[in-house]
Order: sequence, then structure tokens, then C-alpha cells
Amino acid sequence: MTFISESAHSGNGYHPKKHLSHTDGFGTRAIHVGSEPNKETGAVIPPISLSTTYKQDSVGVHKGFEYSRSGNPNRDALESTLASLESGGAHALAFSSGSATTATVLHSLGPNAHVVSVNDVYGGTFRYLNRVAAETQGLETTFVDLEEASDDTILSSFRDNTKLIWIESPTNPTLRLVDIPRIVSLARSHASNPIVLVDNTFLSPFYSSPLLQGADIVVHSLTKYINGHSDVVMGTAILPAHNAELASKLRFLQNAIGAVPSAYDCWLAQRGAKTLHLRMKAHGTSALKIAQVLQRSPYVEDVIYPGLASHPRHALAYRSLSPHATKFVESLKAPVDQDGVSGEEEGGFPYGGMVSFRIRGGAVEANKFLTATRLFTLAESLGGVESLAELPSKMTHGSIPPAERELLGIGDNLIRLSVGVEETDDLVADVEQALELAVGDGEVLKNGSH
Ligand SMILES: Cc1ncc(COP(=O)(O)O)c(C=O)c1O
Repeated sequence: MTFISESAHSGNGYHPKKHLSHTDGFGTRAIHVGSEPNKETGAVIPPISLSTTYKQDSVGVHKGFEYSRSGNPNRDALESTLASLESGGAHALAFSSGSATTATVLHSLGPNAHVVSVNDVYGGTFRYLNRVAAETQGLETTFVDLEEASDDTILSSFRDNTKLIWIESPTNPTLRLVDIPRIVSLARSHASNPIVLVDNTFLSPFYSSPLLQGADIVVHSLTKYINGHSDVVMGTAILPAHNAELASKLRFLQNAIGAVPSAYDCWLAQRGAKTLHLRMKAHGTSALKIAQVLQRSPYVEDVIYPGLASHPRHALAYRSLSPHATKFVESLKAPVDQDGVSGEEEGGFPYGGMVSFRIRGGAVEANKFLTATRLFTLAESLGGVESLAELPSKMTHGSIPPAERELLGIGDNLIRLSVGVEETDDLVADVEQALELAVGDGEVLKNGSH
């Protein structure tokens, strides 16, 4: 099959404005890359270009846009922002959803390919691999515990036709961590040399830069942190400069399939992305605080937050931080006093906004907690400015057979929090009062000691 090359308007590598530099920090790039003042009007914020078609001066002579499915100024602008924010990225494609991104990437593998996937991959990805690509493309997938499995076990899952390794880190909802550089080096050592893909939705480009760790392609559900305001469904695939051919193939497929976002959604997502750095710092700071409070609570069996010093993969979490997140985390370190004692009480660092915990008791206590919160809304999804809480066993992961859920540690008392950017003290107080109502005897609340 021949693939058309990327057209002029869509070679969206990072082309900085004159006054922008490649050394500008993450937040500076989030605000400026892709946001040129409008040449005709001077408008600082790009206008929304709703036109579906574009005038040609003579046949085939145009300003880079012909028909909005193939390219649109707002999509181009957002793609420039995304390619700049995902460190190591040069080509970004914006899709109509994270799921459309997944479908297009898997479609690009062609017939009868084999994929190795992390075992507790996002349910929608699992469904596409097993129930769509398996039927329509003859695609086969081997699910492997990429956190715990030995090198030999992982290598033995590779076949001659293994074309892709699908990684999520941390996984959902048990926040298992995959050592990306280790998987990349295993992939490179095998004759099939599969593409390594990382779904970076949970950490966002602020906390993690998988392309700098050797991954070939990063995908996100933009619906989550990058847009960040729970009002857009979109996805993206971002590739490094040396993967121009694959980027071009994906762009061809995307146009042919029509998996494109609207101009309005692109505009909204770009506006959201401008504050990604601020939001991710706030999500992470409050999530760490809440994880520490949960860890101390007598009403909690177990807390999972890789930023906690007690998390078994805490060191890997630190190693996996992006350069800009490392700088942020280092800036928070408590000063060491003259006796060499650090002021930090419990250690730990912000590592995204997702916290999971097992409440003492079972489904009844979990349901009480989830209906007792004042600020955490009981709802699926994640990554918005507002805090959300959910019960994976009945909601996001309800379609996984009970035995498999059990193996993955998704019991009836496992609660997942998407910590928003409200005031930290208010969120902590909300979690504490809901725990007291759900598991305690309510005495503390009655006595007004909170
Ligand atoms: C990790 C992850 N990847 C992909 C998706 C799919 O994204 P979308 O809902 O935008 O199709 C989701 C959605 O929840 C997700 O959590």
C-alpha cells in the first residue's frame, strides 16, 4: 500500500516563534507554542476556524488547507503544542478520542500481527485488542505483567511477528509501574524489534517523558489531564523526529478513517494545555498530602501512590520523572537544618493526581465513603480540575471477569481518587470526614474535633 506523505500544513514539528527558544521551560512552551498572534487581526488567542473547506487560488494552489478532515488551523496549532510538550516529540496527531488513537495505531500494524501488552491495560484498549483487532485484523495479543515479570519471561512472549509493545505506567487503578527503559532494551534486543508505545495519559507530559526513555510513540487520552476541564473527548499520538514515516502512515490512516477532532475541541484542548504545568503541580501536591493522610488513617487498609516513600517502586517512580518534573520535585525538598535533619515528615514527592486505596471493610463501607464526600464527585474519568472518586470493581473495571479482577487486586473495597486542584486543606478534610462517616463511629465529627 502506498501512503501519501504529510501535506505542507501538517509537518508539525516544534517550530518556535522567533522569541521562543528550545530551552524555554515546559510552562513557557505550553503557553506560547502553537499560539501565534493572528497575523490579520493581532488577536492573541487563535480564532476558531469552523470552515470545512478552503479557497484555492488556482487548482491545487492554497494556503496549506483544503478540507477540514485533512487539516485545520486549530488542529495544527494544538498539534504543535502537543509535539512541544511531550519531550522528545516532533510529530503530533490530534484524534477525536483516545480510543480513536488506539484504533488507528493498531490498524497501522496490518493483518496477523502480534502485540505484547501490559496485563492491566485500560479496559477500552483491552476491548479493542481482544474484540475488534482480533476479529478484523487477526491480531493476537499476549498480556504480560510488565512490572514483575523477569527479562526471560518477557522475551519469551515475543514472536517473529511481534510488532508492538503496549505499555501503561502507572496502570489503572492499582498504579503498577513499568520500567520503560528496561522494556525498550528488551525490545531492541529481539529480532522482531517491536515498536514500544506508552500510553502516558495518567502522568501527562508534565510528569513523564517516555520518548526520552527510548519509546517510539506516546499516546494520551486528551480527555484527561491535557485538556483538564472534563469538557472535551480527544486523543493524541506523538512521535519523535526519526519516526516520521510512521507519523505519516498514521496521518494517512486518520484522514482515511476520519478519526478527526472538531476545530472547537482542538481550541478548547489547547486552552486547557496552557495550564497543564500549573494543574499537574497542584494535582500532585494535593494527591501526595491525601495519600499521606490515608496512610495514617485507622480506617484505611492500604494506600497506593508511587510518590509515597513506602511504595515498593518509589525509586523507579523517581527515576521515571521527566526532567521538568524532577526540577519541580527537587524544589520541594525541605531544607536540611544544621544538625543535618530534613524537615520532611514522611518523605515522598508528587507523582500525578491519582491515588487508590483500600478502605477498611468492604463494598458497604466503600459505598458509604463514596456517597459521603462533599467535594469528591462520584463519577468515572479523571484528570479534570474537579476531584472525582469511583469504585473500579463496579464502575470503570466492572466488565473485567471477577476472577481476573481478584488477580489484579481490584476488590470491592478499592477506591480510586482523581485528586483535583481545589484547596488541599478542603480536600483533606473531605476525605477525613467521609472516612469517619463510612468506617468510624462518627464520634469525632459529632464532637466537632475536625
Ligand atoms: C489510560 C487511558 N487510555 C485511553 C483511554 C481512552 O480515551 P478516550 O476516553 O478519550 O477515548 C482512557 C479513558 O479512560 C484511559 O484512561
